[in-house]
Amino acid sequence: MKKTICKNYEKMSEVAADLIVRQVNLKPNSILGFATGSTPVGTYKLLEEYNKAGKIDFSEITTFNLDEYYPIFRSNDQSYYYFMQKNLFSNVNIKPENINIPNGEASDPDAECVAYDEKIKALGGIDLQVLGIGRNGHIGFNEPGDELIAQTHVTGLTQSTIDANSVFFPNVDSMPKRALTMGLYSILNAKKIVILINGANKAQAAKRMLCGGIGTDSPASFLQLHSDVTVILDEEAASLI
Ligand code: GLP
Repeated sequence: MKKTICKNYEKMSEVAADLIVRQVNLKPNSILGFATGSTPVGTYKLLEEYNKAGKIDFSEITTFNLDEYYPIFRSNDQSYYYFMQKNLFSNVNIKPENINIPNGEASDPDAECVAYDEKIKALGGIDLQVLGIGRNGHIGFNEPGDELIAQTHVTGLTQSTIDANSVFFPNVDSMPKRALTMGLYSILNAKKIVILINGANKAQAAKRMLCGGIGTDSPASFLQLHSDVTVILDEEAASLI
């Protein structure tokens, strides 16, 4: 895995945004995989600025997001649908029909997951997948456990993730305890992967992912199996490696 250690969050966001710009300029109809969470917000902000400045054109881009809570209404301000509209999609010239996010309103979530993987495959696969990482080493909503699942699937959330994310909901009871997430195969099948890691509270997860063996206690450690991963960390997240 290629590692880039940046002074701070702003620099990390710049490096990531530049990488995405390069990808899109090389292949204007790229299929991009996007993540939610606080980590990529700075990168998305820069992409918005670059789009307005004419440095990146989203008009031919197709996107697939990693995950979504289940069940959740798109109109809920904590849904990842809402997050992506607010932080990127409504601010750039992407075509709404080219945006794919697992549907948290689906009446048959298992069928939704199968259709999601089929659509990624039918379009030729993801060219560049952007990832964040959970404090417990999760990617997407692939949580540490006895086993990991390859395909897009419905999953339960661990207590660690509920603790980390419930603060954004009015109370813990209103937070969905399940999610739809791309699986490890769906993620590792991307041609290129870039994972962003910032902050001292991610230092342990970064160390485990980069320096330990491959294990289901750290879903992110499976990225070691991929031949084109760029890890962009800030100094705090890199402090233990
Ligand atoms: C969330 C998302 C992940 C994200 C991670 C880290 O639960 N499912 O895709 O990478 O947790 O979030 P943050 O960037 O806010 O730390």
